[in-house]
Amino acid sequence: MNKSSETGTLISFEGVEGCGKSTQIVLLVERLRAAGREVVVSREPGATPLGSELRKLLLDPAHNPDSLTELLLYLADRREHLRLVIAPALQRGALVLVDRYVDSTWVYQGFARDGVEISLLESLNRLVVGDHWPQLTFLLDCPALKGLKRARERNRATGEEGVADRFEQRHLDFHNRVRRGFLTLAEAEKERFRVVDAGREIEMIHNDIWLEFSLKYAIS
Ligand code: TYD
Repeated sequence: MNKSSETGTLISFEGVEGCGKSTQIVLLVERLRAAGREVVVSREPGATPLGSELRKLLLDPAHNPDSLTELLLYLADRREHLRLVIAPALQRGALVLVDRYVDSTWVYQGFARDGVEISLLESLNRLVVGDHWPQLTFLLDCPALKGLKRARERNRATGEEGVADRFEQRHLDFHNRVRRGFLTLAEAEKERFRVVDAGREIEMIHNDIWLEFSLKYAIS
């Protein structure tokens, strides 16, 4: 996984549950492909065969691992994701869009719960991804309660009513801390983050994302 010979671009999407990341990724991808770009879309956890097993374990409400165990499982998923999906795509020069990545770990396993010390978490995150840090990160920001309601509607629409995953079941306080954690990161790394108001119409959010994107990468 030698970064120096890679010519692709890694972009991540982050935010609270139900903030609309997946919808926005789909819209952006359609537009980028129409402009002739090779785009690889991926997500965490669960983008590889091993990862999809880890995803089931991680989201299953039957388990209640401590924060270090949870962190190590997410990092194992990430390492596999990087090795099998992200690094090869970057090597080919593709644009890689990931739905959650290093910042989710910082927020969910660090900031939002009394758990792994942030400095240790940062070192482990770096150990796993090395230089494969996102060049650009869209933070889709909306109130945690609004996002949770949307996630619930989505579960209902997909016939998964009542099966909120292990994270969706956590208290609103936790999700409010998740939101604050992402905003804290965005404030600390203004160069990398673009904070987008995700409480609006889908089309308006997409237009903002496209504008930021096309400005940064000179695509029209
Ligand atoms: P998912 O159903 O993919 O949620 P979403 O659609 O909101 O992205 O579930 C992923 C869950 O995993 C989500 O609750 C956030 C959590 N997560 C972490 O706790 N740490 C991590 O490093 C990552 C990548 C995700």
